[in-house]
Amino acid sequence: MAQLAKIARANGFRAAPARMQWDQLAGLGKALPAIVRLRSGGYMVIAEVRTSPQGDLVILRDPLAAPDAVLVLDEARLRAVWDGAVLLVKRQHKVSDAGQPFGMRWVVGQILRDSHLIRDILLGSLFISAFAVAPIIYWSLLFRIVLPRNSLDTLNLLVAGFVFVVVFDTILGAMRRHIILHIVSKADIRMGHHVFDRMLRLPIGFFETTSTGQVTSKLGEIGRIRGFLLNSVFGTLLDGVCLIVFIPVLFFVSTPLSLLVLAGCAAILLANLAFMPELNRRHERLVRAERDQYSHLVETVHGMRTVKTLALDARQRTLWDLLVARTARERIAFGRVQNSMKTVMAPLESLLPITVLTVAAYMILGGDSPFDMSSLIAFALLTGRTMGPLLGIAKLVERYHEARGSIATIASVVDHPAEEGLSGTGVLTPLKGTIELMDVGFRYPGTVVPAIDGLDLLIPSGSTIGIVGRSGSGKTTVTRLLQGLHADYGGLIKFDGIDIRQFDLTHLRSSIGVVLQDSFLFRGTIRENIGIAKPSCTLEDVAAAARLAGAEEFIERLPRGFDTMIEEGAANLSGGQRQRIAIARALLTNPRILILDEATSALDPESEAILSANLKRIAFGRTVIIISHRLASLVSSDAILVLERGRPAALGRHQELLADCRLYRDLWTQQNGHLGQQNGHPGQETSRGTGYVSISPPAA
Ligand SMILES: Nc1ncnc2c1ncn2[C@@H]1O[C@H](COP(=O)(O)OP(=O)(O)OP(=O)(O)O)[C@@H](O)[C@H]1O
Ligand SMILES: [Mg+2]
Repeated sequence: MAQLAKIARANGFRAAPARMQWDQLAGLGKALPAIVRLRSGGYMVIAEVRTSPQGDLVILRDPLAAPDAVLVLDEARLRAVWDGAVLLVKRQHKVSDAGQPFGMRWVVGQILRDSHLIRDILLGSLFISAFAVAPIIYWSLLFRIVLPRNSLDTLNLLVAGFVFVVVFDTILGAMRRHIILHIVSKADIRMGHHVFDRMLRLPIGFFETTSTGQVTSKLGEIGRIRGFLLNSVFGTLLDGVCLIVFIPVLFFVSTPLSLLVLAGCAAILLANLAFMPELNRRHERLVRAERDQYSHLVETVHGMRTVKTLALDARQRTLWDLLVARTARERIAFGRVQNSMKTVMAPLESLLPITVLTVAAYMILGGDSPFDMSSLIAFALLTGRTMGPLLGIAKLVERYHEARGSIATIASVVDHPAEEGLSGTGVLTPLKGTIELMDVGFRYPGTVVPAIDGLDLLIPSGSTIGIVGRSGSGKTTVTRLLQGLHADYGGLIKFDGIDIRQFDLTHLRSSIGVVLQDSFLFRGTIRENIGIAKPSCTLEDVAAAARLAGAEEFIERLPRGFDTMIEEGAANLSGGQRQRIAIARALLTNPRILILDEATSALDPESEAILSANLKRIAFGRTVIIISHRLASLVSSDAILVLERGRPAALGRHQELLADCRLYRDLWTQQNGHLGQQNGHPGQETSRGTGYVSISPPAA
């Protein structure tokens, strides 16, 4: 065990060997996973302790077994093999670590990076608190010296000193606020950068299983953390610095009364803490309700076209009203707890100084203290000054819980395992375009039927291959695997003989041009959209790509040509125009591999003809994969892969498939059957030359 701990420490882990009982395992919580020693001398990893109606169960992983093999043991069976030794290990993160989980520690670490600024404001605050004693001295001197002795000179001096202190105090205060603003803004920039960066690294599967509204509202919690830092943490902590000055002065004036003040504040803090669990629970529910409401808003705005088309206004409105009502209910429930808390706190807070003063007054009347009127006033002022920061700490506890909730929410998004291959250490060799799939199988997470099963395929560099098959047969999935969008597939995928897992993902994806049926266009001009992947491109490059994609013709007819603004999602363009821009965008970077997934589905025959005519030029020197329901567009490809429910049904050229593959022949006849019987149907002729077009009903 000691040896193991040493190795762990040498590799940047914190490690603590321990002996434990079964009952203690359940309490490990976040300390898991941990290593346990077996009586046989081997080791296993406790991944998790689960509670079940039959008692706790431990989930063990054997480092020697397959990565996803787990062992579930109950108490008796674990006792039989485990000798009680546990090694607790935890990864030690540096503040600068990219892989560090997002948490309070990280946030604090970011702030502490500006330690010189923090030192400055701490010093400033000490000064300010020293000045804060000034009014007390002022009153005290006024009562002790000025008034009893009628000393006008002292009064003048006092007033001058006081004005000086006020001016200095104001300047220092302004500076302090300025520095706090800077520190928080810097932390905010780092947080924003970090969170956005982590979000971009998440695998596509995450976004397909989490709604946009949930993701955006969760990441929006950053605002709450900023508010917490800006309004609560710094204010309170810096005011807290005053305590270093005030509390000794307080004790200097009177020890018993100071103890009374401290005890009172402690009582208020405890009362505050008593409300905390309920307050947190309510707050969590409120945040959840707010988030659902926001998600619904985002979803409705996002799907507005469908909402209008299907006349879903009433449904969306009803759902919205329900969500608003739920949020309101939760807000009231939360407000009620807050309200009760304030109702209890307020009298306590106002009673404390009065109690202190009353006790002081009794002490003076009893004559057993060196207290006089002026000390009494000084003490009352000091009590007020001390209570503020102390009670501020109580409020900080409350806000801290809220901020921790926000941090956990953000962490639930950004701490999701990132895509592999983004570390910048992958292979960066330029692709030549040979693609090899060896016994590839893939199942989407959470599904039982494989989307791809036993696919073997070799696509030589520079060839054009079509993929056909019924809807849902796995065509798109193949292209997603080639882009490295999913890591957990079976078999091997290689580009130029190199496993794609070894490539740098960014490099890989920028070497593959992909056009989807509904490619997303960003807000900006057409020129910016086409050139988006290569900011250094010239207008000539953009025009050339547009020409190749058959888009130049319509772009030039637009009043502002390439400078036409496209709205988000390109609502002001037709489906076919959008597709051609997307094709031009994919061609601009001159990728070695081009994937067209139903990329021409929205094109009219004329535009498709332009594109088909260009395809030879487009395909020149590239590997092209075309997925199309219109088999006619694949006739000239070097090979066509027919997929059936994720399995390869046949592979060959058009003529071979027509002869050998029944599925292909069926698909072909369904689409082109009329070609055989094109003698014309008298009833479907359109009459021309009469000035208007009429369609006569089909003959019975
Ligand atoms: N993100 C996803 N999560 C879960 N299952 C998915 C996902 N995407 C696709 N599938 C499933 O995988 C199978 C293959 O889907 P795929 O999109 O590859 O089909 P396709 O051949 O491209 O169909 P189409 O011609 O309609 O585009 C389908 O059964 C589908 O339900
Ligand atoms: Mg598809």
